Amino acid sequence: MKQHFIHVVTFSVAGKKRIKAKLMLTAAVAIPFIILALFPCIPDNLRGVKTRLTPLKTSAGEKFYICPILTGGIGNQMFLYASTYGIARSTNRIMLIESSALNNVFHLDHVQSSPTLCHCIPKKVSIYDCAYDEDMLNIPADINYQIGEYLQSYKYFYKYEQDIKRMFRFRQSLKDSANQFLTDVAIHYTAKLTATNTSAITFIGVHVRRGDMLDGHYKKYGYVLPGQDYVHKAMDFMRRKFQQTVFILASNDMPWSQSNFHGNDIFYSSNTDPKLDLVLLASCNHSITTVGTYGWWTAFLAGGTTLYYKYPAREGSPLRKQFSSDYSDFFYPGWIGMD
Ligand SMILES: *[C@@H]1O[C@H](CO)[C@@H](O)[C@H](O)[C@H]1NC(C)=O
Ligand SMILES: *[C@@H]1O[C@H](CO)[C@@H](O)[C@H](O)[C@H]1NC(C)=O
Repeated sequence: MKQHFIHVVTFSVAGKKRIKAKLMLTAAVAIPFIILALFPCIPDNLRGVKTRLTPLKTSAGEKFYICPILTGGIGNQMFLYASTYGIARSTNRIMLIESSALNNVFHLDHVQSSPTLCHCIPKKVSIYDCAYDEDMLNIPADINYQIGEYLQSYKYFYKYEQDIKRMFRFRQSLKDSANQFLTDVAIHYTAKLTATNTSAITFIGVHVRRGDMLDGHYKKYGYVLPGQDYVHKAMDFMRRKFQQTVFILASNDMPWSQSNFHGNDIFYSSNTDPKLDLVLLASCNHSITTVGTYGWWTAFLAGGTTLYYKYPAREGSPLRKQFSSDYSDFFYPGWIGMD
């Protein structure tokens, strides 16, 4: 009896041990995968340390680099590129990117990219999305960094404006399609008005952002969309200021735009691809924007007189806090605010 009893005990202890051993083995295999999924940079730590401390060899000697944390749509990404470039130049670094989604739109071939070097290096994120944060320039001199979210202020790249314009040079095929559209519009317009001079036409790009911005989430966060009155007022301003104005209207809510804005001098974009509208609006001589970074960039690249909606964020909202008190970090000097 005694022996039997002992036997049973030893058997069950051995069984438990075996189960425990199996569990430990499973854990030993699974835990690294779980950690890897949750913190992708941890197992890379040794290589990560090396990456963050190793400068790049360039023709101007060894330089540390910063990478933009690329996120969001075309307008967001353009700000991240431009601001990172500006910060890099101001701090004697170079900009490096992981991959270049914007390369389909612009000739960014000269922007250095590496699929691995931006990985697992420290991140520095601005406290403002749409204002200038001077602290973003305080980066320890001997470390590579990722920076971002969202760096939407021209003040980061103001000094290098010409470089930025060169960086955002459209691909020729996109440029050709925009020029073709404008030429067709000019021919239609002059036909309507019988024999005016097509090369004397002033093209005004109008971007009406609605669509996604009508979403309750955006509204709650603080986005304010201008009504049709603002756009009518802005168009009248342009008609008074320039001769033979023709409006090229693009929107992510065409039905609303077409029912609110029509006339002999208003032409609608027929594009469904946002990058084609970007080129089209940027090819116009002057700009009317509503809200959003996409419209901001069409106006910046067009480089003419720009009218913008003065109050894009509800007072007291979380979005309002992302801008400087007078919005001047966001809207480009010389642009004209209207409401
Ligand atoms: C057409 O307008 C352009 C630009 O204003 C001007 O340079 C050109 O001389 C005009 N051509 C004619 C035929 O009037
Ligand atoms: C206006 O834009 C058109 C189309 O890009 C361009 O051909 C023309 O030279 C521009 N006019 C002026 C006065 O800049």
